[in-house]
Amino acid sequence: MEKVKENTTEIHTKENIFYNPHMELCRDISSLCVGAIKDKLRICDGFSATGIRGIRYIKENENVESIALVDANRHALPLMKKNIKYNKVTSKKATAYNADILQHLFGKDYNFIELDPFGSPQSFLRSAIGEFASKSYIKTAYLSVTATDTAVLCGAKRKACIKLYHSFPMNNYLCHEMGLRILLANISYAATEYDFSIEPLFSLSHRHYFKTIIKLERGAEKTAETSRKIGYLEFNPSTLEIQTNELPKNTNKKKTEEKGNENGKADKLENTNKNENWEIAGPLWLGNLHNKNILQNMRELNEKRNYKNKYKLNTLLITLIEETDMPVGFYRTDRLSKILKKESPKLEKLIEKLNKKNKTTKTHFDSMGFKTSINIKEIKKKF
Ligand SMILES: C[S@@+](CC[C@H](N)C(=O)[O-])C[C@H]1O[C@@H](n2cnc3c(N)ncnc32)[C@H](O)[C@@H]1O
Repeated sequence: MEKVKENTTEIHTKENIFYNPHMELCRDISSLCVGAIKDKLRICDGFSATGIRGIRYIKENENVESIALVDANRHALPLMKKNIKYNKVTSKKATAYNADILQHLFGKDYNFIELDPFGSPQSFLRSAIGEFASKSYIKTAYLSVTATDTAVLCGAKRKACIKLYHSFPMNNYLCHEMGLRILLANISYAATEYDFSIEPLFSLSHRHYFKTIIKLERGAEKTAETSRKIGYLEFNPSTLEIQTNELPKNTNKKKTEEKGNENGKADKLENTNKNENWEIAGPLWLGNLHNKNILQNMRELNEKRNYKNKYKLNTLLITLIEETDMPVGFYRTDRLSKILKKESPKLEKLIEKLNKKNKTTKTHFDSMGFKTSINIKEIKKKF
C-alpha cells in the first residue's frame, strides 16, 4: 500500500482503488472554490475512491461542516475509513459509505454534491439536483461536476454526443469550449426542471477532463433567465467568422413575422445551414463560465496555500478572471496566419494591439487563442 501526499493530506492508496495523480490540479482548484464559497457546506463526495478529494475539502476549508465519502466499490470502504482516521478528521465530521450514489442520496441533507464519475456525469445530474429540490428549506446548493468523456463532448464521437447530451458538438479547434458549454447546457436543463437557476462559479477544460462547480438557486424568475442562456454557435472555417444565436423566443413563425419583436425584427433561429461552409454546435450554454468574485477569492486563498501547483494555478486563475465576461468562442493566431498567408505575430503583441480598440484577452482553452468582441474583418486588418 503506497502513500501519496497532496498539500496537507496524506493518504494510503491501493491497487484496485482509483487514484490519479494527474487530477491533483483539479482537486486543488476545486478545493479553492469550496473555500471561496461563503456558505457552510455539508458535502457529499459521491465518487470518493480513496477519499482524497473529500478529505482535502474538509481539511483545507473551514466552511466545510461535514463530509460524506461514498463509493460503490466495496473495497474502497476500508480505505476511505483508514484515510479519514490517518488524517485525523473526527468521525463527527467525516463518514464513509459503500453505496451506489443514486441510492445513497435519497433523504440526505447535503447542500454540496460532488460528481466525479468515470466518463459522463449525465446520468447522475437529476438525482443530485432532485435531492436538493426535495428539501424546501434548501434555497441555495452547489454541484461539482467532472466529465472525462471529452471525446464525446468534443465531437470525436459525434453520434454519442447527440444521443447522450442532445447537442451537436464541434470537432475543430473550438471543440473544448463547445464541449464544456454543451455539458453546462445539460446541467442547466436538469436544474431548471426542478426550478433551480444555475451560475457556474468556475469552469475548466484541462488535460482529458472538464470541471465545473455550479451554484444553484431556487426560484422561477432566475430559472427563466437560465433557460434563456441556451443557444448555438456557428463557425465558418474558411473565413473564421463566429456567430452565436440564442434559441428563438417565439417559435410561432407566422405570428412573429407579423408582429416582430421589441426591436422590430422577426425572431428566428439564424439559419442552421447558411451555406456548406458553416459548422454549428449546440444547443449549448451561452452564459458566463465563471464568477469573477469567486475567482478573486480563489486567487487570494491560493496565495495562502502551499500547493505544488501554486504558480500554475495563479496564472490559470488570472486567465479565467480575464475571460469571464468575454464573448463565446475565440480565434487562433495560427489559423489567422494560414488564411491570411501572413506570418503569425506574437499572441501578446496582437492582444496589446487589439486591446487599444476593444477588450481582448487570452483564453484558458488554447495557448494560441484569444477572445475579443472585435469583428473578424478588424482582427484581420490588425493582424
Ligand atoms: C474517477 S473515480 C473517483 C476519483 C476520486 N473522486 C478522486 O478524486 O480521486 C470514480 C469512482 O466512482 C466509483 N463509482 C462508480 N460508479 C459509482 C456509483 N454509481 N456510485 C458511487 N460510486 C461509484 C468507482 O468505484 C470509482 O472509485
